[in-house]
Amino acid sequence: MGLKPTEKIWHNGKMIRWEDATIHVLSHVVSYGSAVFEGVRCYESKLGPSMFRVRDHMQRLVNSGRIYRIDFPYSADDLSSAAAELVRTNKMASCYIRPIALRGYGQMGVDGLGVPTEVYMACWEWGRYLGPEAIENGVDVCISSWNRMAPNTLPAMSKAACNYMNSQLIHMEAVANGFSEGIALDTSGFVSEGSGENIFVVSGGIVYTPPFASSVLPGITRNCVMTLCEEMKIPVREQMIPREMLYLADEVFFTGTAAELTPLRSIDRLKVGKGSRGPITKTLQEAFFSIVSGEREDRYNWLTPVNVPHGAVTR
Ligand SMILES: Cc1ncc(COP(=O)(O)O)c(C=O)c1O
Repeated sequence: MGLKPTEKIWHNGKMIRWEDATIHVLSHVVSYGSAVFEGVRCYESKLGPSMFRVRDHMQRLVNSGRIYRIDFPYSADDLSSAAAELVRTNKMASCYIRPIALRGYGQMGVDGLGVPTEVYMACWEWGRYLGPEAIENGVDVCISSWNRMAPNTLPAMSKAACNYMNSQLIHMEAVANGFSEGIALDTSGFVSEGSGENIFVVSGGIVYTPPFASSVLPGITRNCVMTLCEEMKIPVREQMIPREMLYLADEVFFTGTAAELTPLRSIDRLKVGKGSRGPITKTLQEAFFSIVSGEREDRYNWLTPVNVPHGAVTR
């Protein structure tokens, strides 16, 4: 996926040029993976460019940092305002926003407590993560030979950079074997999540998703789907999911900021249901996409318009 630079990046409260957002190779984060980050989408909605659940993402960033004692002087509200300013400054109609808080330069050694924290936020254009057709046709995935992190090793509830070494193993193995994505099991053998997506399984009209205890990231899109299910009176349950339930499911789909709501067409070469997007997945996708596009009333205040003056938007 090519990265198209935008003009500015936010750094510790100031806008700097894209090309100036560099760090020293001896920054703590480079050796030890000590960073926490977020991914937020800004949609081109009827309200103008609008960030999706930006405050919830920024609160998760603060929470992720807290687990690792990575302190920074910005609240979720400060970071949400900075994100809006960033999108406005770069005149984006829609984009992906990446805030990251990292342990910077100053001393080497594992102990990061004396090292300054640098907070950056960038944005850029980003399309459909698993390919443009995936939303309708679904993707072919496998169960990974890699497990998600064991409890009490690397905390899965923190969206920390180092967790994505595990995600890389899952994703690269899947792609090397001709699949779009891998599903990882937790260390007890129950279904956990994709390398960058939560997972939902539909069986007999009930929607299941693994609990936090199965080493999943508390996904914001996951929470949207659970909220929409409750609203539409579709029973939804958080529970441990045995691997074989995936092979017997009527429908399975991924959720995530990048993947949005993507159906799974096959798992380990076995068709999921009829091998095409199922009715519950379609209903939830329609509900989700009609909110993010601004076509349906934003009942939960999920959208934050960035208030770009009319006519200033570039595409
Ligand atoms: C490992 C992992 N699980 C789940 C998700 C989905 O989370 P969200 O819906 O908040 O983007 C992501 C994406 O951020 C992820 O990286």
